Amino acid sequence: MNEENIKMLQEATHRSPSTTTTTTTTATGVTMTAVTQDRYGDSSVLRTTTVAVPTPGPDQVLVRVHAAGIDRGTEHLVSGTPYLVRAMFGLRRPRQPIPGMDMAGTVVASGSEVTRFAPGDEVVGVASGSFAEYAVADESKVTLRPDPLPVIEAAVVPISGSTAHQAVVTHGAVSAGDNVLILGASGGVGSYAVQIAKARGAIVTGVASGPKLDMVRSLGADHVIDYRSADPVDGTRRYDIIIDIGGRNRLSKLRRALTDDGTLVIVGGEGGDTITGGIGRQLRAAAMSPFVSQRLTFFIASEDHRHLDELLTLVASGKVRPRLDRTYRLSQVPDALDDLAAGRIAGKAVITITDPSVPTNERARS
Ligand SMILES: NC(=O)c1ccc[n+]([C@@H]2O[C@H](COP(=O)([O-])OP(=O)(O)OC[C@H]3O[C@@H](n4cnc5c(N)ncnc54)[C@H](OP(=O)(O)O)[C@@H]3O)[C@@H](O)[C@H]2O)c1
Repeated sequence: MNEENIKMLQEATHRSPSTTTTTTTTATGVTMTAVTQDRYGDSSVLRTTTVAVPTPGPDQVLVRVHAAGIDRGTEHLVSGTPYLVRAMFGLRRPRQPIPGMDMAGTVVASGSEVTRFAPGDEVVGVASGSFAEYAVADESKVTLRPDPLPVIEAAVVPISGSTAHQAVVTHGAVSAGDNVLILGASGGVGSYAVQIAKARGAIVTGVASGPKLDMVRSLGADHVIDYRSADPVDGTRRYDIIIDIGGRNRLSKLRRALTDDGTLVIVGGEGGDTITGGIGRQLRAAAMSPFVSQRLTFFIASEDHRHLDELLTLVASGKVRPRLDRTYRLSQVPDALDDLAAGRIAGKAVITITDPSVPTNERARS
């Protein structure tokens, strides 16, 4: 950070409009309030503490975080499960002690190689450690926030929305008239996937638990199935494309519910084995695909801003809208994680951090 940027950051810090957090400067540098963890575990390992504001690298921006989305990936990073997560993100404790990935905020400083952003830009994207008043983000993972999109809605778009877009468009190649089955239609990824598939003219069947089916219908699903009372992949109905986000059905079952030249896109699913999370199902699908008439695929979502840009175009056109369920304050991140893990959130939840204009801990939209 150059001197001018530091000054701007300090001014922003002293102007802090937050009603829920406090920020101070010290003789040695600027500090901020953040949620941190010094070990893996459930939500009880999280603390709201004061830490140093991070410094952006040459190709990074420092963002004052107004709101941060929460998602299953963040939950896995907090708990360190499946254990494969620890091999990638820190064996004994997370290398990044501040959880959170989605964010919307204002750029306050930028690295020497950043060309697309300047201090003052309103942005949205992925920043490691977004449950904090400031976070650094790679320039490649951030884009400008479209003006009409409210901060709290923008903050819940990047990870889940971009994953859904890649599932439906890049890997599923969903087009008009396709019969599409979305397993896990009421969740973070699924709530976007239903809307994106509808925007492309597909006939969508959304699968979720009974209490959330009305919400799935409200997203535009043509048909809904309660997985607790019916088996959505019993083979009585066959689909051109299955987007598998929840339920962890066996490959053989999923294939029976696909047309002969259908496409299966595996996004994920909770409840796999403790070491790999059941990634073997995805690997088996990819290995089998060249030898069968159906296309069986999985992917790890790219965080590049170009996917987010495509989705934001759909959001701007009104065809897709973030389905925001609950808002929490920074100090309530443990509650948000507990609610997410227990399946109490329909669609998305957001943590409000330095945006004073939003209500907290109440349903944003019924
Ligand atoms: N491949 C990638 O790069 C990538 C990226 C993002 C996420 N993921 C993974 O994708 C999965 C979903 O993420 P998310 O953020 O959407 O999670 P989420 O918000 O918790 O949603 C999970 C969804 O699965 C549904 N579900 C639960 N049990 C089911 C069953 N037996 N049959 C059908 N649906 C069932 C839930 O329905 P109810 O709530 O109604 O019970 C809900 O709609 C996670 O495992 C996550 O780790 C992968």
